Amino acid sequence: MQTRTIAEPYKIKMVEPIKTTTRDYRAQKIREAGYNTFLLKSEDVYIDLLTDSGTSAMSDWQWSGMLLGDEAYAGARNFYNLERAVQEIYGFKYVVPTHQGRAAEHITSQLRITRGQYVPMNMYFTTTREHAERAGGIFYDCIIDEAHDAANPHPFKGNVDIAKLQKLVDEKGADAIAYLSIAPCVNMAGGQPFSMANLRAVAAWANQYNLPIIFDATRAIENCYFIQQREPGYAHKPVREILREMMSYGEGMTISSKKDNLVNIGGFIATNNEQFFTQAKEMVVIFEGLHTYGGLAGRDMEAIARGIYEMVDDAYIASRVRQVEYLGNRLLDAGVPIVVPIGGHAVFLDAKRFLPHLPQEHFPAQALAAALYVDSGVRAMERGIVSAGRDHATGQNRKPKLELVRLTIPRRVYTNLHMDVVAESCIALYEEREKIKGLRMTYEPTSLRFFQARFEEL
Ligand code: F0G
Repeated sequence: MQTRTIAEPYKIKMVEPIKTTTRDYRAQKIREAGYNTFLLKSEDVYIDLLTDSGTSAMSDWQWSGMLLGDEAYAGARNFYNLERAVQEIYGFKYVVPTHQGRAAEHITSQLRITRGQYVPMNMYFTTTREHAERAGGIFYDCIIDEAHDAANPHPFKGNVDIAKLQKLVDEKGADAIAYLSIAPCVNMAGGQPFSMANLRAVAAWANQYNLPIIFDATRAIENCYFIQQREPGYAHKPVREILREMMSYGEGMTISSKKDNLVNIGGFIATNNEQFFTQAKEMVVIFEGLHTYGGLAGRDMEAIARGIYEMVDDAYIASRVRQVEYLGNRLLDAGVPIVVPIGGHAVFLDAKRFLPHLPQEHFPAQALAAALYVDSGVRAMERGIVSAGRDHATGQNRKPKLELVRLTIPRRVYTNLHMDVVAESCIALYEEREKIKGLRMTYEPTSLRFFQARFEEL
């Protein structure tokens, strides 16, 4: 039982001022932004919990590496530093850099999916599914049912349900599956991890059918921390070792380096499959840039390489996840409905239980995110019916069971006093929740609509 406070294993060397605004000002700004927090100006935000993507604070070691950027078109030394970091930490031999995660997903989907093939995923992620579908793939949800229930306290809600995979193979045959796309700390489920035991079982199952696992390793190290904390046999293993074991079950990975890797831009594909590597190298040149930079500057690759070594520090990852838990526990103590267990990168408000007077058609999570901004200048993100979009075949709204507002914590950026401000605002809103009105969509983009959709109050 942990009784003494454990603080962050770093101190603050540089600060960036943030603006406080009035309630009237924010009410006007959210109206102008069509009640979509993506359309607010960052300078009008006090505490920005829109995303943990690209919002990390880099260390002095990363910044000093930026000055060593080798801005050659081909074969920059920083590419080789990145390649070495990926080989040592993730354990994959071949690396293809991309400008961010979705670019790695694009290339992987185009190369690895044949039109009409299924792509099982442990819940969807917006861009991952979009790229699979654009390549002619069919998304198949293989996460355990518990993941779709915000109140279920299962410790590994990111687990794959092997019976669902077996059903797909029995009905369609193994050839109808492109690969298994497995994400650690499942974003849309609330940042929920899978267990190593589950992954091991999935890998053994997949092996029988020669089906590869390609990880979306965007938040793998946070998942490794949960394995260390929760799974028998891992309590004394460093996250660095846990990550190597996890990745050993996959043929490769895509990643958005903007999360775990502690940088503001970047991503890559990594694999042990030489043929996939060769094809990805050919394709990256068309869409991103030469295979030794993939849309990144040399300095960006250096920052990723150094971020990869920093993320596997046990003290760092513990303080990162514990800050998320700090915010979540404050809300739980006050009775505010959130997704449990508390996830690795964010606290998710359960808008269905927060605003039971609003039907899903009135966009409760969108309305709650807007209300939070007006109350305190805290910016969050809708993760519900707007994010789920429409079914490509029927044109109907997908109606996800989870209707959430994500309070996403950037890495190494805010203090726990900032978390207190966020918690107090959520609690105040919860006490006056019946005052929050639903929304009507006035503009709807054709794909990934949540980024640019506009709304007005009902
Ligand atoms: N996979 C996961 C699990 C993600 O969370 C993201 C991005 C991506 C892939 C795509 O990576 O943004 O570098 O192109 N998630 C961000 C978020 C946008 O806010 O959750 P990207």
